[in-house]
Amino acid sequence: MTQDLRLTIAAELERTRARTALLTDAVDDDDLTRQHSPLMSPLVWDLAHVGNQEELWLVRDVGGRDPVRRDIDELYDAFKHARSDRPALPLLDPREARAYVAQVRDKALDVLDRVRFDNRPLVDGGFAFGMIVQHEQQHDETMLATHQLRLGSPVLTAPAPPSPEVPVGGEVFIPGGRFTMGTDTDAWALDNERPAHTVDVPAFFLDAALVTNRAYLDFVSAGGYGDPRWWSARGWAHRQEAGLAAPLHWIRDGDSWLSRVFGRVEALRMDEPVVHVCFFEAEAYAAWAGKRLPTEAEWEKAARWDPATGRSRRYPWGDSSPGPAHANLGQRHLRPAPAGAYPQGASPLGVHQLIGDVWEWVSSGFEAYPGFSAFPYREYSEVFFGGDYRVLRGGSFGTDPAACRGTFRNWDHPIRRQIFSGFRCARDVV
Ligand code: AVJ
Ligand code: FE
Repeated sequence: MTQDLRLTIAAELERTRARTALLTDAVDDDDLTRQHSPLMSPLVWDLAHVGNQEELWLVRDVGGRDPVRRDIDELYDAFKHARSDRPALPLLDPREARAYVAQVRDKALDVLDRVRFDNRPLVDGGFAFGMIVQHEQQHDETMLATHQLRLGSPVLTAPAPPSPEVPVGGEVFIPGGRFTMGTDTDAWALDNERPAHTVDVPAFFLDAALVTNRAYLDFVSAGGYGDPRWWSARGWAHRQEAGLAAPLHWIRDGDSWLSRVFGRVEALRMDEPVVHVCFFEAEAYAAWAGKRLPTEAEWEKAARWDPATGRSRRYPWGDSSPGPAHANLGQRHLRPAPAGAYPQGASPLGVHQLIGDVWEWVSSGFEAYPGFSAFPYREYSEVFFGGDYRVLRGGSFGTDPAACRGTFRNWDHPIRRQIFSGFRCARDVV
């Protein structure tokens, strides 16, 4: 049992590091150290930061070992330096950063060999190791967003996602009533997903599919970006100040639209979910369509509630881990899939692609669940509660399965759209 857990963790650490290596080996040293956008860190910062967190939690905390490089803690503390300031820091160069993360990994694997998975919260069920796997995977998604912002010739390739056999659209009725939101039992769930609690969600309609580029283009073509009726006051102010006219990475070409996808310019694919929209754009589209965004509780009920048993499950399809037929996750494909591409991943009521493809903006701010307690550090979630953040759910094609489940909560500022963010709409039952 314990040996199984050790092997699972070792495999997850290795699989994750292979992705980090792919994302950082794809570009040259100049590309690794430069800043591709003031919103993002240099890739070489993400790389050493991942190693530094692994050192702090696995080598020093769980393992009780001496520091590898105490002198660099401050450089790689995300709270000490804003992303825009990171290129000017005396960072480890690419060779040093690679050597550092390898040295930390050797020690972390040695700690893993010797650790007792007893009931101390940090090690119970392998929690700290799971947290570090998820942390590195989260930075891998951040690095993928940096790749999408990077100008220059393409360096990443992946096969196309599956095409649907049966197209999916329309709305699904989600009956009213109580369901269990959050979790107490998922060993690798992070603090903000806890504790499990009951929420009464009135009946509502939820779109079976994500909003597509075709539908979003209708809003653009109808003059949606020029009509304050559809926008919140803050959304409209931001639209004007930032000069928003279309999703990030869309390029107007006469009467048609192109988009830039990891360095390749191509015709906008109308059947794919829209991606790279901010919360304010999602909110405006929904208002134009006569709908609204779902709340976070509505989203989670649609994704987890099993109408047959009344129980909340890990995923829309049940409790089993995501496989390639369930969802577009894990950077296997470098774009979202059209609606209906993952029939095996649909919820029992028929909502598709809740997991994977694009992160889904919901209307809720990022708040603690009742009974929340910060663990193991306040800076993962607690310091962000009550701030200017909106929640995103479900993960994207860039999110690893280890860092995605029906309870997983992501958050960002409502103006951000360099992330792989899209949405689906909901509607009241009238
Ligand atoms: C949960 C994605 C908002 O990237 O800021 C990474 C994850 N926290 N390192 C982020 C995280 C610390 C976090 N998000
Ligand atoms: Fe981090």
